[in-house]
Amino acid sequence: MFEALEAAAADAILGLITEHKNDPRSDKIDLGVGVFRTAEGETPVLDVVKQAEQRIIDTQQSKAYIGTAGDPDFNALMQDLTFADAADADRVLTIQAPGGSGALRVAAGLILRARPGARVWVTDPTWANHIPLLGGAGLELEPYPYYDDENHVIRVDDMLDALSKMPAGDLVLLHACCHNPSGVDPREDDWRAIADIIVERDLVPFVDMAYQGFAHSLNDDAFIVRHLAGLVPEMIVTNSCSKNFGLYRDRVGSLSVLCADKASRDIVNSQVNNIVRTIYSVPPDHGAVVVATILGDSELKAAWRVELAEMRGRLREMRVLLNDALKEKAPERDFSHLVRARGMFCFLGIAEDQVDRLKKEYGVYMVGSSRINTAGITARNVNYLADAIAATL
Ligand code: LMR
Repeated sequence: MFEALEAAAADAILGLITEHKNDPRSDKIDLGVGVFRTAEGETPVLDVVKQAEQRIIDTQQSKAYIGTAGDPDFNALMQDLTFADAADADRVLTIQAPGGSGALRVAAGLILRARPGARVWVTDPTWANHIPLLGGAGLELEPYPYYDDENHVIRVDDMLDALSKMPAGDLVLLHACCHNPSGVDPREDDWRAIADIIVERDLVPFVDMAYQGFAHSLNDDAFIVRHLAGLVPEMIVTNSCSKNFGLYRDRVGSLSVLCADKASRDIVNSQVNNIVRTIYSVPPDHGAVVVATILGDSELKAAWRVELAEMRGRLREMRVLLNDALKEKAPERDFSHLVRARGMFCFLGIAEDQVDRLKKEYGVYMVGSSRINTAGITARNVNYLADAIAATL
């Protein structure tokens, strides 16, 4: 049966984990997969997660199945984190999902059931896994202009123009904050203009919020979700708790669907739960209970906000550090866009063969598009990194 199969290509992002791990050089640098790292290059469990886990160990009575929608407390708390009071609770449903990816996959199933042949417009470029994940589920995807890689800004006019030509009923995938891979987000007035066209054209917003709290703050980063919630009849929102709670391998996220009214919400709810049953049956529990324990306790929540702000601050500092080092080592090139980006990622803005040289000659790993995870930069490796980049320019 398997003789007809050919080996699948290594994943553009996850493949780098193994490549970097197998590299024997001691000065190698991993700027690939999006995980947070400390100044020591580690990805520790957040203190607040440790505290929540201890409480769970002390009090958890059962490991029996939870339902297809997951933990109701988690769902209510995630709905609040996402929408605050911007959406009519009767119109929204939120379910727990195995990471942001699981939420996206369930959303794809829902879209296909509601509107077979639906088209989803995605930013050009978008997260490398959006296309295989959503396209592989059966959705038709089309790119719309987003990033100007010469000037490292958003192509706002082109984007608005493309939106204004999209057929009514199409879905538009938006990155709520910390656009992956560019790190460049619309400004608030751009978001308002985008939302106006979405309403005018009767498009359905599909917002992926994988980095809430990594750009400015938990509230500011949810601006477009909350703004749209007051304007549109229907919307899909996917959240990930991988980054802001550091729960990567525990696979926890959520899917929220805003519906036109309560009756529609109840139908969508039944469909979503049925889809879950046909894919992974029930979601994993641990990460969601950790998140619910933190968000449901004011002290733990306050401590989490502090840790989140520290992560956000470190990402910002590392961008400045690399830009400063590059000013000195490669003064002929302007890398100031590094400092303007938000969240984990941005493009370095170098060619694919230069990315390749950085890997082969210097053990510096990044995605082929020259997307870097700024959390991989430290005060100790920044000079080596800047020298290596300068040498390949
Ligand atoms: C990334 O973009 O590096 C992360 O979202 C991890 C992943 O699954 O690709």
